[in-house]
Amino acid sequence: MRQIKVGLIGFGTVGSGMAKVLSEQAERLNRKTGAQIVLRTVADLRTGSLPEYLDGVTLVRDAAAIIGDPEIDIVVELIGGIEPARTFILDAIAAGKHVVTANKALISQHGREIFEAAAARDVEVGFEASVGGGIPVIKALKEGLAANRINYIMGIMNGTANYILHRMTSEGAGFAEVLKEAQRLGFAEADPTYDVEGIDTAHKLVILMSMAYGMNARLDEVTVEGISSIEPIDIEFAREFGYRIKLLAISVNHGDHVEARVHPTMVPEDHMLASINGAYNGIHFNGDMVGNVLFYGLGAGMMPTGSAVVADIVDISRNIIDACVNRVPPLSYRPGEIRPKSITPMEQVRSPHYFRFQVVDKPGVLSKISGILAAHDISIESVIQKGRRDTGAVPVVIRTYEASEAAVKAALAEIEALDVCAGPVVDIRILPHELCE
Ligand code: NDP
Ligand code: HSE
Repeated sequence: MRQIKVGLIGFGTVGSGMAKVLSEQAERLNRKTGAQIVLRTVADLRTGSLPEYLDGVTLVRDAAAIIGDPEIDIVVELIGGIEPARTFILDAIAAGKHVVTANKALISQHGREIFEAAAARDVEVGFEASVGGGIPVIKALKEGLAANRINYIMGIMNGTANYILHRMTSEGAGFAEVLKEAQRLGFAEADPTYDVEGIDTAHKLVILMSMAYGMNARLDEVTVEGISSIEPIDIEFAREFGYRIKLLAISVNHGDHVEARVHPTMVPEDHMLASINGAYNGIHFNGDMVGNVLFYGLGAGMMPTGSAVVADIVDISRNIIDACVNRVPPLSYRPGEIRPKSITPMEQVRSPHYFRFQVVDKPGVLSKISGILAAHDISIESVIQKGRRDTGAVPVVIRTYEASEAAVKAALAEIEALDVCAGPVVDIRILPHELCE
């Protein structure tokens, strides 16, 4: 049986998961690929020795030993970050090796350069694990949903943020304490601000948009807000209104322009995304032929992500055995068919909103606020006002009908300037009706 030799750069959470999957599923993978997939070398800066189940695998510190090894067919990059990961991948491609990576930061910002280099060298680049951890969402977009115009993409794409929000909601746990737990469990990025500030979700949205719409989506065009300012009081008010707060990525396809945003969103509690908890992800596509499709599964962690990395190795191994390269283009659309699309200016995006005002409790305050909202064409759907606090300021919570971001921005600036307003207004978008169907 033909041997396919793999070199792994980065033996951390995902790297060790991938090695375990290769070892535990060796016989099954032989039967599925018609090849014996052999992990030949591991490069890692930290690891002193490899576990027993990797008997016979060489451990090195320098990735060059893998990239320069003529025996290695597939290089797996699992160190994360932009450099030196980008250089390792480009060098591996230049050396004629196929590449597999889980690096969404890199693919979302340098995917084009990497895919062009791979096409020129007739090698493949697999990046299934870059979005949705163990969920095979990249393959689904490339192949299973190929017959569709994707109308919108919406989802929970960060396990760490979802784990934090879920534990804050279900147990009243503190933000910092739960973040530490997510780091201990291996879900979080090396820099966890990527998880909590929505950047990691934006990386994933950029990859999905590029594939779904056949465009080169850009990270700097995505509006990104994270969950670090979500307070327990807003989680409680959301519950009173019948919502759960989730960090959502949303992209709506308007034809010549597309929405691209990541922000905390109030989701009706009977919506499927509202019940996705812990480190699970839920990624929803609406296609013009298929309708709604929801992918659900563990979005982070050692074994689920290792499973996705190995799925790419299997794909590439099958192609090596059949002497066929890049049958399916990395972004699904043929490289020459990737077309520009503009991003809808955020000011034009419309959603219902939740506002929490901290105001001095005296007559006329509510009418001042509602007057300013009305002047900006923002209609109120409901109001909650709680009793007095020791500080003399009370929370007033308003839920609105759909309004444009431009109107909301202007109204909130006027309200914050009122002398009765005791601090910045908390503004959380509510999932629009058309995305709830
Ligand atoms: P880890 O930090 O756990 O592992 C990375 C490993 O690579 C570390 O052991 C690190 O050593 C090593 N490393 C760093 N630089 C080099 C280098 N130049 N040469 C050799 N080894 C090096 O990260 P994860 O496994 O969590 O993440 C890996 C990738 O997978 C990232 O791109 C991440 O975004 C992605 N990913 C992670 C998921 C998860 O659940 N954790 C899920 C989906 C994707 P040292 O610590 O000494 O720097
Ligand atoms: N840090 C990421 C998350 C890993 O928590 O979802 C999976 O991409």
